[in-house]
Amino acid sequence: MKIATILGTRPEIIKMAPIIAEINQRGIDHFIIHTGQHYDKEMSDNFFRDLEIPTPDYNIHVGSGTHAKQTGLMMKGIEEILLDEKPDIVLVQGDTNAVLSGALVCAKLHIAVGHVEAGLRSFDMTMPEEVNRRVADICSAMYFIPTEQSAVNLLSEGISRKNLIITGNTVVDACFRHLEIAKKRGFEEESLADLDIENMENILTLTMHRAENVDVKQRVTSIIEALKQLKDMNIIFPIHPRTKNTLENFGLFDELNSMEHIHIVKPIGYLDFLLLTSKSTLILTDSGGLQEEAITLDVPALTLRYNTERPETVAAGGNILVGSDKDAILENANKILNDNDFAEKMKKAPNPYGQGDAASKTVDAIEKFYSEGLLNIEAPEDIMDSFTRKMAAVNEDVTVSEFEENENALIHMVYDGRNMVFPRDELNLNGMMITYDKRE
Ligand code: UD1
Ligand code: UDP
Repeated sequence: MKIATILGTRPEIIKMAPIIAEINQRGIDHFIIHTGQHYDKEMSDNFFRDLEIPTPDYNIHVGSGTHAKQTGLMMKGIEEILLDEKPDIVLVQGDTNAVLSGALVCAKLHIAVGHVEAGLRSFDMTMPEEVNRRVADICSAMYFIPTEQSAVNLLSEGISRKNLIITGNTVVDACFRHLEIAKKRGFEEESLADLDIENMENILTLTMHRAENVDVKQRVTSIIEALKQLKDMNIIFPIHPRTKNTLENFGLFDELNSMEHIHIVKPIGYLDFLLLTSKSTLILTDSGGLQEEAITLDVPALTLRYNTERPETVAAGGNILVGSDKDAILENANKILNDNDFAEKMKKAPNPYGQGDAASKTVDAIEKFYSEGLLNIEAPEDIMDSFTRKMAAVNEDVTVSEFEENENALIHMVYDGRNMVFPRDELNLNGMMITYDKRE
């Protein structure tokens, strides 16, 4: 079996690292394609170093540009490589332009796509990431899904349950593995050297880079107004290059940089960043990965967005959406700082993203699909089955597997009277409403 991994930005490198390590440990033939979307040392090379990932076999060097230009160049580069390498499955992660390009190219070449972190939905089609993840999910053959809630999103879009594998999120694997290494090593980042973070209190780690925040002057100004007033906090702000550019263009950078309680630094390496976040009183962010890391590290998070594709973190009580609303940011940040019960409750929120074994579950499933011939994407020769789409109320003790076997059916959705729930094989359907396809 030959596996390809496509990645291109900082979070993809971090979240694919545990899977790459697992593939290599099992001695499976594997190669890495870097799209080159992130190219600064601080946004790319340093993560290969910190997470001990082999240097990519290919780099397409797309660099920065409009969405169409980046996506087009990536597709062209990826197609050339895949035609030559002919992998059995191509892994893409998350919702960046690499995911969109990789999934589209594979769909056309009839190569199986494995979408890592599939099924997340913000339901906000103005986000480029929402478009990318939805398109990738149409093109995929295997879905590695962090939570049952994300799996239900895919089921409600008509995707077959047979291809859904609930793994947890590899961000937990990366966090658990590297936090220990980071703690032993201590801070090494030069840009943090003057700050004596080890002995600093009331740390607020801030990151923001989402286009809908940093490219909109009114929103970014409102966030900055809140930051200026949070004088009881030590705000550490490793600034994304996109954000640095826009703050400079809006003429907002210098004043922010001159404030005594705000420390703007370059993007920092993964080990230093994990140490920093784990020592923080509060994380203020619009990052996807950071919402997950906050709940993994038991640090309260305020998310600078009006929606999130990580609603599990909000439901669990570890994350609050504050948008770019100055008053909401100030009120909640001050509460976390001054109200111990409030902060403790947020810290104790259970982590919805698993135990840190997402990578091994992912590679187990790939090996199983491969051995069963399910990665071969070929035009069918069987005459199409006919089936009827049905709905039923179940009034007997019967599990999902038993029902499917007895009825020659595949269940889509299960409603427990209040919510849609994921039809795990062993789930007892008694008292539930279901929808299913019955083969004739
Ligand atoms: C991209 C992803 C986003 C992800 C983020 C992770 C898409 C559509 N967006 O956003 O989902 O959350 O990465 O960080 O794929 N730049 C540099 N050096 C670099 C990279 C970028 O200076 O190494 C600057 C350039 O001015 C560029 C801007 O940052 O125009 C934005 O970069 P881009 O890759 O387009 O999007 P991100 O905001 O990084
Ligand atoms: N991160 C890092 N150094 C930084 C900022 C972030 O190592 O200076 C890591 C962070 O731990 C998380 C990931 O980058 O795992 C998040 O990436 P980003 O916010 O760029 O993207 P998103 O997750 O929003 O797609």
